[in-house]
Amino acid sequence: MKRVLSGMRPTGRLHIGHYFGALKNWVKLQDEHECFYFVADWHALTTNYENPEDIIELRRELLLDWLSVGLSPDKCTMFVQSKNIYHAELNLLLSMITPVGWLERCPTYKELKQEVSDKDLSNLGFLGYPVLQTADIVMYSADFVPVGVDQMPHLEISREVVRRFHHLYSTDVFVEPKGLLTETPKIPGLDGRKMSKSYGNAITLSEDLKEVETKLKRMKTDTNRMRKTDPGNPEICPVFDYHKVFSTEEERGYITEGCTTAGIGCMECKKILIKHVMELLEPIQDRRKHYEAEISNADEFLAESQKRANDEAAAMMERVRSAIRI
Ligand code: TRP
Ligand code: SF4
Repeated sequence: MKRVLSGMRPTGRLHIGHYFGALKNWVKLQDEHECFYFVADWHALTTNYENPEDIIELRRELLLDWLSVGLSPDKCTMFVQSKNIYHAELNLLLSMITPVGWLERCPTYKELKQEVSDKDLSNLGFLGYPVLQTADIVMYSADFVPVGVDQMPHLEISREVVRRFHHLYSTDVFVEPKGLLTETPKIPGLDGRKMSKSYGNAITLSEDLKEVETKLKRMKTDTNRMRKTDPGNPEICPVFDYHKVFSTEEERGYITEGCTTAGIGCMECKKILIKHVMELLEPIQDRRKHYEAEISNADEFLAESQKRANDEAAAMMERVRSAIRI
């Protein structure tokens, strides 16, 4: 069995973009491999060090989102990064051998530093983000790391750090991790832009279902289709992008035919979509309610799973220390 590891920063409730882009795959992987999924709360601090106060609540929110889609600590190891101090030790040791140039050249670092103007990102922790991420991954000898394309440069740094460590200390303690790209069609936000909480165009997994229905009914369509009698073009319609992930081949055929010949109206098209979105969200929200009632303290709930992770990390650190002989 291969080892899989991935993490998310606790930054707010997850939306259906996260579901199709990551979580759906995580759920599948937990039945096929030995999986580790963790809350990367220290990583959240690299950019949000000024506001650590909501982190406890955000951690619980993230955990509830994970459980609601069907992840389970009975099937995988779920834990919190900051509750495993070994990640900090390994981060420190790896930082000794990571050339600063590799980090400065990292595209995510360069881009965010340019884009973000409301925060000072000239801190060491932000520059070292990929080093901490490497520690997270190699601690558990993960073979595969399911991530989005944007994370691939980090994975490349991880692989290079591993090689350098092995070379410097004549050892092979670590496994070189491989990125596992999730192949799903992108699901845009309700306004056609990228789905993002900050644009206010997202559908979160825990959103009130009536609210979801209203939002979908109001969603932008092919803007050239002003009246029901105008033919439309599904290929430039954000609603159709949703049909690509939610609906069946047959339904898409029916819609394409109806839309391009002005045979069906946008409301009918949206009703098909709404049915599917409800079918996805209802069981997720039922599960969430169940866990919300059950979990008051996320740390307590995760205690056993966290211990599994921490014990594993302790054993790895023994090996790492003896490789460096210090
Ligand atoms: N950088 C990842 C993200 O923003 C989160 C993360 C932290 C992670 N450590 C990781 C992902 C280790 C995979 C493996 O999505
Ligand atoms: Fe978009 Fe559907 Fe309307 Fe066509 S019928 S424009 S695909 S919402």
